[in-house]
Amino acid sequence: MYVLASVLSFAIQLSAAIIKRQGVAYYDPNANGGSMLDNAGDGLGEPLNVIVSGLSTPDVLTDDGIVNYARAIGFSEECFDIHLGGPQSANLGDGNSWVNQTYELRQDYDSSSIGTCLESLIGGNHFRVYRQNGTQADSGALFLAVSKEEDVSDGHDIVPDGYNIGRNDLVSNAVGQTSFGGVSYTTTAQNVTGLLAPGAVGVNHNISVDGIVTVLTVTIN
Ligand SMILES: *[C@@H]1O[C@H](CO)[C@@H](O)[C@H](O)[C@H]1NC(C)=O
Ligand SMILES: *[C@@H]1O[C@H](CO)[C@@H](O)[C@H](O)[C@H]1NC(C)=O
Ligand SMILES: *[C@@H]1O[C@H](CO)[C@@H](O)[C@H](O)[C@H]1NC(C)=O
Ligand SMILES: *[C@@H]1O[C@H](CO)[C@@H](O)[C@H](O)[C@H]1NC(C)=O
Repeated sequence: MYVLASVLSFAIQLSAAIIKRQGVAYYDPNANGGSMLDNAGDGLGEPLNVIVSGLSTPDVLTDDGIVNYARAIGFSEECFDIHLGGPQSANLGDGNSWVNQTYELRQDYDSSSIGTCLESLIGGNHFRVYRQNGTQADSGALFLAVSKEEDVSDGHDIVPDGYNIGRNDLVSNAVGQTSFGGVSYTTTAQNVTGLLAPGAVGVNHNISVDGIVTVLTVTIN
C-alpha cells in the first residue's frame, strides 16, 4: 500500500513537472519572498507594472521573441552609444533571488536605427525585462518595469506620473493586432490589483503609482 502510494505520488510529481508552463499566467512574487519593485541600486525600486503572461505563445517569451515583440509595439534595443547606468535587478519569488534585467528596451521613434538614440535625447518610454523561471515559480512570464523618462538634459529621470503613463502608453501600443519581422501578434490586456501596492513607498524617485499591473497575453497568429 505504501509503495503504491509512493509510486502514485511520484507519478503525480512527474506529471506536474511535465505540465509546468501550461496554464499559469504568472505567480505573485510577494507570495515567496519576492517583490513587485525591482532594485534600482539606491534602496528604492521601479514598479513591475506590466506582465507578459506565461499563457502567451511560448515563442514570445524567449529572448529573441520579446525583442521582436517589442519592435512590433514601437521599441528597439538600447542605443549602443549612450550609457544610462547599471542594470537593475528583481526578485520574482521563483527561487532565483535577485537577478539582473535581461533587457532594457527603449521606444523607437519609427526611424529604426537612430530611433533609440533619438529617444535617449528627447526622452520617451522604456522598459526592463525580468523572467520568472526559477524552479519555485516557473511560469515563464516576463515582468516589465515600464516608465516614461525626461529628456537627457534633465538627467534621464522619470517624468511626473511616469510609471503609470509609461505602462498605459506601452499597453495602448500593444493591444490588438501588431507585427514585426514577419510575425503577427494579437494582444489582450487585463488589469490586476493586489500585486503592487499603490503609493510611493519604496518607489524610485518618490513617484506614486496607482497599483495597477497590466497583464498582457500575446498570441502569435
Ligand atoms: C548585475 O550586473 C552588475 C553590473 O554589471 C554586476 O556587477 C552584478 O554582478 C550582476 N549581478 C548578477 C546577480 O548577475
Ligand atoms: C531563466 O531566465 C534567465 C534570464 O533571462 C536566463 O538567463 C536563464 O537561462 C533562464 N533559465 C532557464 C532554466 O531557462
Ligand atoms: C487599466 O487601467 C488603466 C489606468 O486606470 C486604464 O487606462 C486602462 O484602460 C485599463 N485597462 C484595462 C484593460 O482595463
Ligand atoms: C515624497 O513625496 C511626498 C509627497 O508627494 C512627500 O511628502 C515626501 O516627503 C517625499 N519623500 C521623499 C523621500 O522625497
